[in-house]
Amino acid sequence: MSVLKIVGGRRLSGSVRVQGAKNSALPMLAASVMTEGISVLRNCPALSDVETTLEILRHVGCRVYRDGDAVYVDASGPISPEVPDELMRRMRSSVIFLGALLARCGEAALSLPGGCELGPRPVDLHLLALRALGAEITEAAGRLCCRAGRLRGGHIDLPAVSVGATENAMLAACLAEGTTVITGAAREPEIQDLQAFLRAAGALVSGAGSGVIRIRGVEKLRGAEHRIIPDRIAAATWLAACASAGGSVRLYDADPGRCGPILQVLRRMGCSVSTGEGLITLERRGGLVSPRSVVTRPYPGFPTDAQPPLMAAALRARGTTVMIETIFEARYRHVPALRRMGADVRTEGKTAVIRGVERLRGTETAAADLRGGAALAVAALAAEGETVLGGLQHVDRGYEDLAGTLAALGAEVIRI
Ligand code: EPZ
Repeated sequence: MSVLKIVGGRRLSGSVRVQGAKNSALPMLAASVMTEGISVLRNCPALSDVETTLEILRHVGCRVYRDGDAVYVDASGPISPEVPDELMRRMRSSVIFLGALLARCGEAALSLPGGCELGPRPVDLHLLALRALGAEITEAAGRLCCRAGRLRGGHIDLPAVSVGATENAMLAACLAEGTTVITGAAREPEIQDLQAFLRAAGALVSGAGSGVIRIRGVEKLRGAEHRIIPDRIAAATWLAACASAGGSVRLYDADPGRCGPILQVLRRMGCSVSTGEGLITLERRGGLVSPRSVVTRPYPGFPTDAQPPLMAAALRARGTTVMIETIFEARYRHVPALRRMGADVRTEGKTAVIRGVERLRGTETAAADLRGGAALAVAALAAEGETVLGGLQHVDRGYEDLAGTLAALGAEVIRI
């Protein structure tokens, strides 16, 4: 398995393009199985999670091919409702196929997504949503078997915010008989992007981005063409890298309007941040100051996925930072490795307290999850000496080319 070798101490400078949003691409690719035609997703990022999703699409009977940043999915032929365990195990977010296959085939069988990366990954809200549309779901030996005939529209009241459950509900409702109202829906930009794709495919769906989504079921969906929005978490990662290393970066094909809370924290840390049409620039000249408190929240709050890289950027910030992770139970798995680099971070349940230190030192370490791996790379940029970062299979799930992007910004990093 390859590793990154990062030598810290270099200030960053340069421009990078922000990749298409992973968390838009994955549900949209699953949704394409519901369309009886050819769909084209442009600005689709080249990620291992996307590749796994394409394998699932091929397995259930779609013809799939990629031409540059465009992915073509032809789901006009017969579709199988089964996703094999081996593919499900590779990616927890494949539970999004439940709603799509149930809507297209009237049944679905797939294994429960594994837990542990960020804590247990329950799917109770997904099942509540699908049962509200008339699905009969049984769980046995880690597999979910769902049958529905044709789903019936209804009221889905989600008691807790869940991006995936909201998406599963939207997909299932698009081909259900009658009208569905989803209350307590997640409001993430990627859900708004999914709605845009579904509408292009002929779905009658509205309200994404608010807490209430309304869907009137249709008989069938046609192939659709859609350009995926920029990845706000990849943008947060490159900005955190520059805050950590110092210097200035310019992100293009960005979506500043949906990065508000991230930019606010970076400005509180003493970075100068400016935005324009599709542009975000960040400059950090002097020392960093602590942003004091960062609490992760569902959108439009500060995104949980940006917590690890922003924590890494705050390790040498003057003062004390208190981070509260309200979304996932185990999202501090990067902290022990940061401490081995000399960081002063203590965690207690959902709270992490970071006291700024003068120096960090390079170390040999490995990513335990996707955004934790990004945090280790961000910290390595500000560390003295070399950091060897393994566990890149986690990082490759969400970043097209972490090493290449940081090197393009002037960091001393190679992948071997
Ligand atoms: C999506 O995960 C994203 N993944 C995550 O990004 C992101 O961190 C998360 O939303 C929150 O924004 C994709 O979109 C592919 P949730 P998801 O359902 O849908 C609990 C990344 O790094 N919950 O909103 O799985 C759950 O345990 C990834 O790109 C239930 O209790 O997240 C968590 O504590 C990581 N029951 C909370 O809700 C359920 O049925 C939010 O989870 C479902 C979720």
